[in-house]
Amino acid sequence: ADAVAFRGAHQAGIVTAAQDRLHFAAFDVVTRDRDHLVALLRQWTAAAARMTAGQAAGGSGAVGGPAQAPPEDTGEALDLPPAQLTLTVGFGASLFRDAAGRDRFGIAAHLPPALAPLPHFPGDQLRPELSGGDLCVQACANDPQVAVHAIRNLARIGFGTVSLRWSQLGFGRTSATTRAQSTPRNLMGFKDGTANLRAEDGALLEEQLWVQPGDGPQWLAGGTYLVSRKIKMLVETWDRTSLAEQEAIFGRTKGSGAPLTGRDEFDRPDFAATGADGRPVIAPEAHVRLAHPDQHGGARMLRRGYHFVDGSDGLGRMDAGLFFLAFQRDPRRQFVPVQRALARSDVLNEYIRHVGSAVFACPPGVRDAGDHWGRTLF
Ligand code: HEM
Repeated sequence: ADAVAFRGAHQAGIVTAAQDRLHFAAFDVVTRDRDHLVALLRQWTAAAARMTAGQAAGGSGAVGGPAQAPPEDTGEALDLPPAQLTLTVGFGASLFRDAAGRDRFGIAAHLPPALAPLPHFPGDQLRPELSGGDLCVQACANDPQVAVHAIRNLARIGFGTVSLRWSQLGFGRTSATTRAQSTPRNLMGFKDGTANLRAEDGALLEEQLWVQPGDGPQWLAGGTYLVSRKIKMLVETWDRTSLAEQEAIFGRTKGSGAPLTGRDEFDRPDFAATGADGRPVIAPEAHVRLAHPDQHGGARMLRRGYHFVDGSDGLGRMDAGLFFLAFQRDPRRQFVPVQRALARSDVLNEYIRHVGSAVFACPPGVRDAGDHWGRTLF
């Protein structure tokens, strides 16, 4: 009951009930040899199937192999349960073509048009060492040691073929992805994930989340796109802001999470409502108005982010924020227009900075024991 099924039509770790902990890793491929890369994807798949079931990364485990060789597992998860571990893989545009436009592994013809680089958004302060990557693996679990163990062992297995480009630890989910989950709070103290796509959304998931057979390219049917953004929060500034101002910024109340025009968390926001002063109750620059599907032709996303606190900055400030993760059928129609509207006018911008960014195409699920990550692409 503590393990999430690794195989299926779609990858786990997307509509799976959001776990409490994250270790997200972006890798660069350092080999030029296509066969080495495909061999690694096969090895990773086998290790992922084992670890998500609560087993060691390799068959002989941490202590069962020859004493003269490094163990096939690093050992720190030896006595731990699977803790709902999911491992979700994605491919970045740079895997298909290098900066000079060269086809790196004979797959350039299969580059999805929707995997286009994101445009520059006003206010972006992106750092290259926190952005991009040829491959990503999202590890989510209810125990941080289980998530870190999984990424560490994949990096170990990949030595010589991939190198870790950047990684992020996260705690405290900032979304609910099933109806049974309660809505958690973000580091600004607000309920986050109220209006999220959820596992039970059926036809809406086909429309908004999963790449459909006609979308192209064919290898990605049943997959999805992942946008990651590392967003710092200027928490000290936020904490000196009045409650009324904080609520006006989101357009929701801090206690219940209800829209400023409603009483219950799940009431529909009434964007036309005006107050006694004749002004809209939910301001034109409020986060929920700018991000709402009504403003973007119905576009939704499955948000699945985590908080981070990467220590402090030596000047008395916490290095904290939201590691934003959103899955969607086409970033050009979903993340990009929403972020464009937010970057232009969101009053929240005074309190946040986008410092990292990446987009990945996440292939469909691994179907059976003979299948592996990326099989439909290579
Ligand atoms: C809604 C927080 C960044 C897209 C919300 C809500 C909160 C929130 C509290 C209302 C509750 C909910 O429905 O989840 C934040 C914080 C951010 C951030 C603290 C940055 C630190 C973003 C970004 C995007 C985004 C970068 C996408 C470009 C959305 C969407 C909704 C939403 C689509 C739902 C709107 C609706 O349908 O009502 N966010 N958000 N948010 N946010 Fe954000």
